[in-house]
Amino acid sequence: MNQPKYEYNPILIALDTPFLDDAKRIVDQTRQYAGGYKVGLELCSSEGVLPVIRAISELGGSVFLDLKFKDIPATVANAAKVVSVDGVLMFNVHCDGGTAMMSAAKKAAEESAAQVRPFVIGVTVLTSISQQELNDEVGVPGTVESAVFRLAANAKASRLDGVVCSPQEIIALRQAFGAEFLLITPGIRPEWAAADDQKRIMTPAQAVQAGASYIVIGRPITAPPAKIGSPKDAARLVWETVAPYLR
Ligand code: C5P
Repeated sequence: MNQPKYEYNPILIALDTPFLDDAKRIVDQTRQYAGGYKVGLELCSSEGVLPVIRAISELGGSVFLDLKFKDIPATVANAAKVVSVDGVLMFNVHCDGGTAMMSAAKKAAEESAAQVRPFVIGVTVLTSISQQELNDEVGVPGTVESAVFRLAANAKASRLDGVVCSPQEIIALRQAFGAEFLLITPGIRPEWAAADDQKRIMTPAQAVQAGASYIVIGRPITAPPAKIGSPKDAARLVWETVAPYLR
């Protein structure tokens, strides 16, 4: 299997709900403006990983499976095999699981029976981890930024397709790791949306212009302000702002 051939649209809508019916309703409404749907621990724990993938695919959506695998290489490879099925655009693993684990995940995805193999994406340092926590609790010396770059370099060396990164990291990571390395970026807010709990944000167009390959947007689309209208209206507005910048 080589590169996925999904029609390229960088908008990944985060389905942060425990209810598959809610998720399906959003997919149904927004499908024509979405490049995929991020589903994670909440929905998958509640409804089951494969049923969630199947339901979203049946509605014509593809899935970013945000389960952040981290375990011994054999276990991650086995899990990667299970989720490398049609309808999965990408899944992720923790970079600090090590290069052997990341390589095993990539190999499993390549050997999958899916018509197009999923991208395998690395998670570097969770943005919820502070400098002090990284140094004193996790025991990793140096700055968060240096840890992010080291882990991203390990991801690339393990042939992962890219990493998740914050808007502030896009330009430097793009410069360091080249045009082909995928950068998946949450922390995205259209001008018309509330920041919610996101602190350092970029608009969809700014992130795409800076070099993000995919942008993850949740609440501004799934629960848009009344002045914007429905999730479909919100998704269309986001699509219209990024489309001019797509190569
Ligand atoms: O609703 P909102 O657009 O803030 O959702 C963003 C999604 O991206 C959520 O699923 C959130 O957990 C995830 N995320 C994030 N920031 C990170 C990593 C993941 O917001 N650094």
